[in-house]
Amino acid sequence: MKSIVVTIDGPAGAGKTTVSKRLAKALGYRYVDTGALYRGVAFEANAAGIHADDDEGLKTLCEKLDLKLVLSEQGLRLLSGGHDISEDIRTPAMSMMASAVSARPVVRAYLLGLQRKLAMEKGVVFEGRDMGTVVFPEAEMKFYLDASPEVRAYRRYLELKDSKAVTLEQVETDLRKRDENDSSRALAPLKPADDAVKIDATPIQVDDVIQTMMNHIKSKISE
Ligand code: DC
Repeated sequence: MKSIVVTIDGPAGAGKTTVSKRLAKALGYRYVDTGALYRGVAFEANAAGIHADDDEGLKTLCEKLDLKLVLSEQGLRLLSGGHDISEDIRTPAMSMMASAVSARPVVRAYLLGLQRKLAMEKGVVFEGRDMGTVVFPEAEMKFYLDASPEVRAYRRYLELKDSKAVTLEQVETDLRKRDENDSSRALAPLKPADDAVKIDATPIQVDDVIQTMMNHIKSKISE
């Protein structure tokens, strides 16, 4: 069976991470969370006091950034200059900052090269916003996973509520704002690739989403 590149795009909270991890495991593929890279840039910009609209500052920052995604016993971790920042990037503030810096061409250009290097060897599942449209337009299998804003906000709330003081209302407001930022930006906006298989996860369980995707992938890799 041939190895391929699988892309999964879609808005925040649609279940991309859960689905991507499980697909990668079932296929024996690597899994790459590209949102973590945008969050890494946001975290370092914030730490250096650089605003999301300061293109010069972001450019200088990106030139010296050293972001690495590594697989450890705890799963996929994000290292910046050798420090593990995987937990620090998962706050609501970092979600909003990542969305803001991701609209800046200088940041997208920096991460484009880094992401493409990660696909030198096939057999990878990439999750993000523009994987199928911009970063890997030649990917053999593309999915666009969506769900209603209410379902996505509730899912994100359940993930955050134990560790962070958040309300469902706040999570939904942030998520809708991020949807708006990510889909309306000029460069690489969130949208399905023309050849993506679109899946609405609102009425179905994650197991069914994975089963549907596996059926599509199997027919691709046995072609
Ligand atoms: O997937 P996530 O929620 O961790 O992503 C955080 C932000 O990063 C998201 O709001 C938009 C941006 N992003 C992007 O622009 N392109 C990607 N491929 C992945 C994430």
